Amino acid sequence: MKLVLLSDLHITDGEALHGRQPVAWLRRAVDHITAHHGDAELCLLLGDLANSGSPAQYRALRNELRSLPLPHRLLLGNHDHRGNFLQAFGAACADALGAVQDEVDVGGFRCVLLDSHLPDTAGGSLDGGRLERLAAVLAAADRPCLLFLHHPPLKTGLPAFDAIGLKERDAFAAVIAEQRRKVAAVFFGHCHMAISGTVAGVPAFGIRSTVYQALPNLADARFLDAPGLPPAYAVVLADEDGISLHHVEFGYDGLVVASAAEQ
Ligand SMILES: [Fe+2]
Ligand SMILES: [Fe+2]
Repeated sequence: MKLVLLSDLHITDGEALHGRQPVAWLRRAVDHITAHHGDAELCLLLGDLANSGSPAQYRALRNELRSLPLPHRLLLGNHDHRGNFLQAFGAACADALGAVQDEVDVGGFRCVLLDSHLPDTAGGSLDGGRLERLAAVLAAADRPCLLFLHHPPLKTGLPAFDAIGLKERDAFAAVIAEQRRKVAAVFFGHCHMAISGTVAGVPAFGIRSTVYQALPNLADARFLDAPGLPPAYAVVLADEDGISLHHVEFGYDGLVVASAAEQ
């Protein structure tokens, strides 16, 4: 089973971010996915879809996604605006809590999509019943679950990002620990960099942005954006043998040397 993950698209009203046009880079990502991963079962977009959450940004995103030849689902991040998102993509995207959450069964796995958006703050939360809902979804699951949310649910060791991570980190880990055998992996965005770790012993993967990347700053609380790094999306392969995740640097323009020699 193959999934494609995109994160941190940051679609703007036309302005560039660190010299890059988010719509143009999304278009390039979609073209690359179409050429190389059109056989994926599902594409998930892990939040920070829009840069300021304006209605025009979601309309632009909706237009671009018409070219994506895969079924796709969208999650919200801190830069998003839930009301404007639902206006553009339909109120049916919201669950009974009013959050943009759902479950999708694909390839023997249950993809559990979580909404960690908390209005007017960069940090994330699963309050208001969202964490309890997750516990119920896991308790009822009859197959291995893959969890997706925007905010990192683990301590990254990056002071800037740990200050704006998931507020209920410990409670989230406790929910996972309760259903440890049912949760195969957790995936998140937000940090604009590749991160691997564990949550209650479950593998967790942070993926990069389709626009601009950040460097891991373990020394102090500054964000270090590195606009020279190529944008990326991720491809996940999952079956009964295990899970692998690949960061696909679709924005890389440099030399590629194909070789039959051992690496
Ligand atoms: Fe972001
Ligand atoms: Fe974010």
